[in-house]
Amino acid sequence: MTHTAPIGRRAFVARALAAIPLVAPMLVALALVAPVLLTAVPLAEAQAPDAPFRIGIIGTGRIGGALAAYWVRAGHEVLVSSRHPQELQALVARLGPRAHAGTPREAAAFGTVILISVPYAAMPELGSDLRRELAGKVILDTSNPVERRDGAMAIDAQRKGAGIATAEYLHNRRVVRAFNCIPAAVLASEGDRRPERLAIPIGGDDPQALVIAEQLVREAGFDPVVVGSLARTREFDLGQPLATGRLTAAELTSRLTD
Ligand SMILES: NC(=O)c1ccc[n+]([C@@H]2O[C@H](COP(=O)([O-])OP(=O)(O)OC[C@H]3O[C@@H](n4cnc5c(N)ncnc54)[C@H](OP(=O)(O)O)[C@@H]3O)[C@@H](O)[C@H]2O)c1
Repeated sequence: MTHTAPIGRRAFVARALAAIPLVAPMLVALALVAPVLLTAVPLAEAQAPDAPFRIGIIGTGRIGGALAAYWVRAGHEVLVSSRHPQELQALVARLGPRAHAGTPREAAAFGTVILISVPYAAMPELGSDLRRELAGKVILDTSNPVERRDGAMAIDAQRKGAGIATAEYLHNRRVVRAFNCIPAAVLASEGDRRPERLAIPIGGDDPQALVIAEQLVREAGFDPVVVGSLARTREFDLGQPLATGRLTAAELTSRLTD
């Protein structure tokens, strides 16, 4: 066993001061890389299987509100958001203790999975305001570009395909298109439909994000059908052949082209 001779307080302080030039740059470097390391962790899939997700909902309207109710019922922690969060208190009280209310920024920070369900014209602003909070997260996007509501930017997004356009606006390739072509009333009333569930076409480029989206579609009471990549999600953009919202999984699958 080796012993280190005790050193006096002055000598200790002198050694500590001498070490500052060495340690300070390391601390600065650690402070710089820590946020990067934290956001680089694959967030949702790092958790134990069957553990509930933390879901942040941006746009708690007809679609976002219906999905919030399904996912709280499935056991997830859900933060619904609004630019006027106080207006969500009644909804949160109705949904119970796993539901919380906040601003869009709080939803983006809270969720390991994010639902974006807003008028499409809000996409550019959300993408620039919440870029840091949304980085690396799994994002389910229900939002449709509609010219009469969203203006000229909708035409551009329709031309690219909404999936590709959303990924560009949000600076995020983990976007999964889902729930964009089921009417809100059907979504709210036909979860777990008997004898056969309705299908939800989904698509995206990130395999892990797709697995998470499939789980969340099932837990909402619908059958997910993976159509393909983000580019192929244009096949179920509004007005396209697969955007009927009222098919079973077998019917939808039979309409897919290779
Ligand atoms: N309705 C349908 O049948 C249906 C079906 C499939 C897909 N979609 C698409 O899904 C999206 C949502 O539809 P919805 O019917 O649920 O719409 P909605 O009822 O009008 O709700 C939209 C929500 O977006 C929020 N919002 C608006 N501008 C925002 C902004 N700049 N930043 C943050 N939040 C903003 C609003 O929240 P606050 O005002 O409280 O902040 C509002 O609650 C749309 O793109 C729609 O085309 C709709």
